[in-house]
Amino acid sequence: MAPPASKRPPRNKRGAARAPAPWSERFDEPVSDLVQRFTASVSFDQRLAPHDIAASLAHARMLAACRVISKVDLAHIERGMRAIRAEIDAGRFAWSLDAEDVHLNIERRLTELVGEAGKRLHTARSRNDQVATDVRLWLREEIDVIDALLARLQEALLAQAGRHAALVMPGFTHLQVAQPVTFGHHLMAYFEMFERDRARLAGCRERVNVLPLGAAALAGTTFPIEPGRVARELGFQAVAANSIDAVSDRDFAVEFCAHAALAMVHLSRFAEEIVLWMNPRFGFVRLPDRFCTGSSIMPQKKNPDVPELVRGKSARAIGDLVALLALMKGQPLAYNKDNQEDKEPLFDAADTLRDSLAVFAELVAGMQPVPGAMRAAALEGFATATDLADYLVRKGVPFRDAHGVVARAVREAEALGCDLSGLPLAVLRRFSPLIGADVFKSLTLEGSVAARNHAGGTAPAQVRAAVARARRRGKRP
Ligand code: ARG
Repeated sequence: MAPPASKRPPRNKRGAARAPAPWSERFDEPVSDLVQRFTASVSFDQRLAPHDIAASLAHARMLAACRVISKVDLAHIERGMRAIRAEIDAGRFAWSLDAEDVHLNIERRLTELVGEAGKRLHTARSRNDQVATDVRLWLREEIDVIDALLARLQEALLAQAGRHAALVMPGFTHLQVAQPVTFGHHLMAYFEMFERDRARLAGCRERVNVLPLGAAALAGTTFPIEPGRVARELGFQAVAANSIDAVSDRDFAVEFCAHAALAMVHLSRFAEEIVLWMNPRFGFVRLPDRFCTGSSIMPQKKNPDVPELVRGKSARAIGDLVALLALMKGQPLAYNKDNQEDKEPLFDAADTLRDSLAVFAELVAGMQPVPGAMRAAALEGFATATDLADYLVRKGVPFRDAHGVVARAVREAEALGCDLSGLPLAVLRRFSPLIGADVFKSLTLEGSVAARNHAGGTAPAQVRAAVARARRRGKRP
């Protein structure tokens, strides 16, 4: 008679014996192959391995310091973890579906390497607080990398803005020429957006940097542990105040994805502008060929694939945020297996943002503005009409009346096919006798931008000051 299912060693697809799951003792039969594949996360959570090892080592050192495990056990665990780290680094670690996830894979290998001591590592913890710890360690590091990439992109913007502080281009509202601005000023708008993205991520990092380990499955542990020790070793700012919250909430991941999505939306708007600027109808910027691609059928084409792809990838980041919000909604306390689904969107959001920032920093540094095209476009849309109105206001005309006067002058210029600055003084004076020869200073593109000479305005001097301010801010520790 065949032994009962529980006594038969589980087999994998190829019929080879499968190591039983560490929790399988109370089960009558092993999980089916399908369920094993369905529930496993090792294919994607193995990237947490360095953090899993660091957290396990800190946990083991704390257990030894609190005399929950012996110094000898700790030495074995440390030796085993060193070997495992080397195996992983060398790509020799045998990740296995049998062991479900990164945590059990490492623990199983540890026990293979050092025996009994490996089995003691899981004292006073659970995979629930373990995974929350690993993800927080991973995310903290990602935030630091992303912050550095944002800073690099900002550097590229500052360099371009400083170089082109006085280069005039049309500013748009409703995608219609509105008022002249400088290219430097336009670019500095993105600098500010990325500055806020960095501030948001820094705030998020504080909430990520809290240690859940010690919460165990959900209720805490019966062992005399000192989570503060673990927190210090791992650089966590605080220990979670509530064990149930510590293992169950993923708000820190949602928050990160929100900030990542928003940063991607900023990049996407910038990308859209670059696509427009590269269109020959605009022709405002040229991108070096290394950022462009051709068409397999139309030999003449040079396509802005890189900014288009960044614009497209912002959709993924938005999707990742929505996925995490939907994942959390309706989950009762505390840990549920649903939470395993947090990783792929979270990883994807971070990867997407990292790649997009890295490529954009290079692209912005390589962008070459075309002053002639910018100037021609700025001269086309009566961009200095507001300047004429402001001129009349300075002569005592109420703004609403000045607005009407200028509108009529614009109609005349339109009929004559010239810019406002192209109208002879005599013609201009027909609309208001207050107009004098000094008006032309206000009607030139240079006069228009130079007149907006206050902090936050587009005057070249202000752009240079903004760049200098930003550089000083960047020097802060
Ligand atoms: N792989 C799991 C996850 O990502 C680890 C925690 C599993 N805990 C559990 N009770 N099954 O969430």
